[in-house]
Formats: sequence, structure tokens, C-alpha cells
Amino acid sequence: MNFIEKIEEIREISRNSKKNNLKVGFVPTMGALHQGHLSLIEKAKEISDIVIVSIFVNPKQFAAHEDLDKYPRDLEKDAKLAYESGADFIFSPNILDIYPVGYSTSINVNVISESFEGEFRPHFFGGVATVCAKLFTIVEPDLVVFGQKDYQQCLVISKLIKDLHFPIEFIMEPTVRESDGLAKSSRNQYLSKDERQKSGILFIALEEAKKAISLGESDRKIINAIMHKKLREVKEIRIEYASSALADDLSQPEFFLKGDKVVLLIACYLNKVRLIDNMIITI
Ligand code: PAF
Repeated sequence: MNFIEKIEEIREISRNSKKNNLKVGFVPTMGALHQGHLSLIEKAKEISDIVIVSIFVNPKQFAAHEDLDKYPRDLEKDAKLAYESGADFIFSPNILDIYPVGYSTSINVNVISESFEGEFRPHFFGGVATVCAKLFTIVEPDLVVFGQKDYQQCLVISKLIKDLHFPIEFIMEPTVRESDGLAKSSRNQYLSKDERQKSGILFIALEEAKKAISLGESDRKIINAIMHKKLREVKEIRIEYASSALADDLSQPEFFLKGDKVVLLIACYLNKVRLIDNMIITI
């Protein structure tokens, strides 16, 4: 399988492609690819001429207790899946090329990074923004494709692109789901059969809140309570947040107004597996 490890090499491929008027699409990943990632690669292929997929498990977005070493790694399998879905090049840099000894720069996208995921994983978005800024600088893509499954990450990255003037178009692709609605995620493989059955409750909770909104509910606390009540039906679930906010900036007004774009956000543990999901609704 063909991997590009060197920064200079992938940059040259990208620059040469652009010199030849080819549009370069980029999908950053940490590997453990599933259908959700593959849909991002397929989308990139649809709207660009050359697709670069990076596979890099970024240590800066893991906290000490989050077991970076246990993160699933199978480069050959991931590369095969990525190529089959339309990737033209796989960039899999070495850790010391990305973070050489003495590396000391980090990027924080303030405010939007601070609530929800940021509250429970304070290290996370700094690590994501830092590695994405580095990857964008290396790959110099015309466009990037990210998944809605990590909705707050999408907001953080599009703000990063805007604030740092990266000449990159940001595309968000819808979440790919299992037949019971569970969002595809590399963490789903850690669910036991029983937990897997119970995990569908996240999607049901989102659907119930959506239904209440469509019937006229606009009180944010009531909408949140609907999700909490549903999730509590599974006793193995520990909720971190099940909350609604304005989709553009994650602010949390007391009431939503007609025309507001609202995002419902859930993060919870099902026993030891952390699951997140979201849904966007226009009031
Ligand atoms: O979503 C992910 O897989 C990661 O956060 C990303 C964007 C590849 C950065 O490491």
C-alpha cells in the first residue's frame, strides 16, 4: 500500500496538482475508518479532483487518562478502505515530523471550544485545532470535509479557517447512522451486544426532542429535560450533557425563536464507552 510520510512530498503533490488546475480535497482522520469517514472521502472525491486523506493519531487531543496507546491502529486496512472510497493519496506522517522535539506552538479557538465537549474534555479542541492548522499548512487543500457527527469540532474548525485566513472551503457532511439510528463511530466497536442494543436510545432521545420542537416547544430547559428523561431509561448511561443550543454559536437562550437553527447535542457514557451525537433542527 502506498503511503506518503514526508511533509515535503505531500506538499509538492498538492502544489503540483493546483498548478495543473486540479482542486485538492482533504479529509483529516485518525484512522480506524468506518462508513462515516468513507462518506467524507466519497464527498471529497465528488467535489474535488485529487483527494488526500491523512491518517495521524494526534496525541495532543488525548488527555492522560484517555489511553492514546489503545487507540485502534491498522494503517493497511485503513488505507485500503480510503483508496476504495476515492482517496488518491494517504498522508501518514511520523509523530516526530509533526511534533519535533521542542515543539511548542498550540492553537486555541476560544469561546466556541469552551462549552459542551470543551467542558468535559478541556484538552481536546486545542489539540484538534493545533493539528488541523498544521495539516492545513502542510497539505494546502482547496477544501476540507468534516463529519457532522462531531458538530462542535466542525464549528471550531470552520472558525479556525476563518480566523487564520486559510483559503480553504469547509464542507460538513451529514452523520452516517446504523439502522437503529446509532451514529457510526470508531468507539462503537467497544460496545458489548447488550450495550449496542441500548445505544440506540441516543437517537431516540434526539428524535423525541425534535418532535417536541416540531409540536411547538421552544423552552430550552424543557427540550433538554426531554432528552435527559429518555436517556435515563437506560440505567447504564451516565449523561455528560444532553442539551440544545443555537447551532451557529452554541449560545443557550432561554427560549428559541421561530426561524432559529437549533442543535441538539448529547454526550454520555454507556458503561465505559463514551458516545456523542447531535441533530440540527430549524424551529
Ligand atoms: O475527527 C477526527 O478524527 C480528529 O479530531 C481530526 C480532525 C482528524 C484531528 O485529529
